[in-house]
Amino acid sequence: MSRLVKLVDEEQIARRVQELAADIATTYAGEPPVMVCVLKGAFLFFADLVRALAGRLEPSVDFVRLASYGRGTASDEVKFLKDLETDIAGRHVLVVEDIVDTGKSMDYLLRVLALRGPRSVRICALLDKCERREVELSVDFAGFRLDKGFVVGYGLDYAEKYRELPAIYEVFPE
Ligand code: IMP
Ligand code: MG
Repeated sequence: MSRLVKLVDEEQIARRVQELAADIATTYAGEPPVMVCVLKGAFLFFADLVRALAGRLEPSVDFVRLASYGRGTASDEVKFLKDLETDIAGRHVLVVEDIVDTGKSMDYLLRVLALRGPRSVRICALLDKCERREVELSVDFAGFRLDKGFVVGYGLDYAEKYRELPAIYEVFPE
């Protein structure tokens, strides 16, 4: 078992999701984006965010899955396991991620998407973890900032565990 320490509770998440939805709705007023959920980690955040947009914005939704092969919890190399089904040429795209850490996965995704001629690509991440950032990129809509530590819950996993937890925890393997 690992020890879990709660960092962000359900109420804080719910409030922040509403704030992000308000920002996103303002940014895209009249020009709904294709919202891209990066599986698996973003699935709960994405579901809440999309629902929070109801009545304010009518986005399309699509899903991608990236695999990163690295040592331990670092990601070294990135690959597409599931691609978009939507043609994003000329469309605004909002990529929704669970967490941007080194930035390598997001950088890969942004480079692939850019080749398809989108009108714009922006990033929304539940967590913006800056300490290990290796690629310069800015998160347009960030839920919470985190200096360091490995977090789980609300969709995020440690070895495929803890995704079901409704709050966000720092995990200390024992
Ligand atoms: P990056 O390519 O280093 O930015 O890594 C991004 C991916 O690594 C995220 O989409 C997560 O799937 C995973 N990841 C990085 N940090 C954490 C964490 O603290 N908890 C859970 N997953 C993480
Ligand atoms: Mg991820």
